[in-house]
Amino acid sequence: MLIKDKIAVVTGASGGLGMAISKTLAEHGARIVAMDLNAEKVAQACAELEKAGAKGVVGIVADVSSAASVADAFAALKAKTGKLDILVNNAGVREIKNALDLEPAEWDRVIATNLSGPFYCTREAGRMMRDAGAGGTIVNIASVAGLTAISHRPAYSAAKHGLVGLTKNLARDLAPFSIRVNAVAPGLVRTPLTESYFQDEGFYQGLRENVPFYSRGGGQDVANAVLYLVSPLADFVNGITLPVDGGWLAEKGYASANATNFYSADRST
Ligand SMILES: NC(=O)c1ccc[n+]([C@@H]2O[C@H](COP(=O)([O-])OP(=O)(O)OC[C@H]3O[C@@H](n4cnc5c(N)ncnc54)[C@H](O)[C@@H]3O)[C@@H](O)[C@H]2O)c1
Repeated sequence: MLIKDKIAVVTGASGGLGMAISKTLAEHGARIVAMDLNAEKVAQACAELEKAGAKGVVGIVADVSSAASVADAFAALKAKTGKLDILVNNAGVREIKNALDLEPAEWDRVIATNLSGPFYCTREAGRMMRDAGAGGTIVNIASVAGLTAISHRPAYSAAKHGLVGLTKNLARDLAPFSIRVNAVAPGLVRTPLTESYFQDEGFYQGLRENVPFYSRGGGQDVANAVLYLVSPLADFVNGITLPVDGGWLAEKGYASANATNFYSADRST
């Protein structure tokens, strides 16, 4: 088992990628601390993980966009487990609007959740890891939108680009405490966040035609990349952002998607 008995916090654990990541880390020996926005989501995540055979799952409510909520959550974690080895900053939200139409409150929500959230969680988790003196690993779930522009996602793109930069900074700042920090940049994966794309057969067809290996990709591929980065197999890997996109970016960037549908500002999700 690659990460036997490691305690792993996953934020946004009840969502599509959060659940895939949590199940995979649990299968490889970790004890999962499922964090999510409210008690219902946390209970749902814990139940699904237990059904999948995960042992010793802990659920904690945390709104990652609030520094106070995150501090409370990690204090609760400390009381329950006493230690922490792995943090996956996965929780995320998105607004799809032209930059000129985006409201400041919408901008704030996306930046607070997708960029400030990983900072708040890393600050708390990193302190716990530093104080325990046993090192640790952190993975931020960025996006291909953190490596290239995607129209009509100004706050999301800015937050994910920021997260890629934050990953590099954290990799240096936390290295003295033997804490590695990396990011994964998924391409488009079918989850509640992206379900609307898949209702559009034209768009889906465009993806399959233009993204090398697209039809093979899914949440499990993202989870496998996270597993690698948190495991000892990646002991010399620090500060990278690993795209898991089937080669989409390597080929032509997002221009290869079905532009009419993907770039539409009419999408609400
Ligand atoms: N699905 C994709 O194609 C894709 C692609 C690239 C990047 N990502 C990134 O992967 C991550 C997970 O996305 P997903 O597709 O699984 O989405 P999802 O909507 O299925 O899950 C997101 C989870 O985050 C939680 N969350 C939202 N706001 C929160 C907050 N303030 N505090 C705590 N939890 C909160 C939600 O409750 C939910 O459980 C996100 O960071 C997203 O940007 C997804």
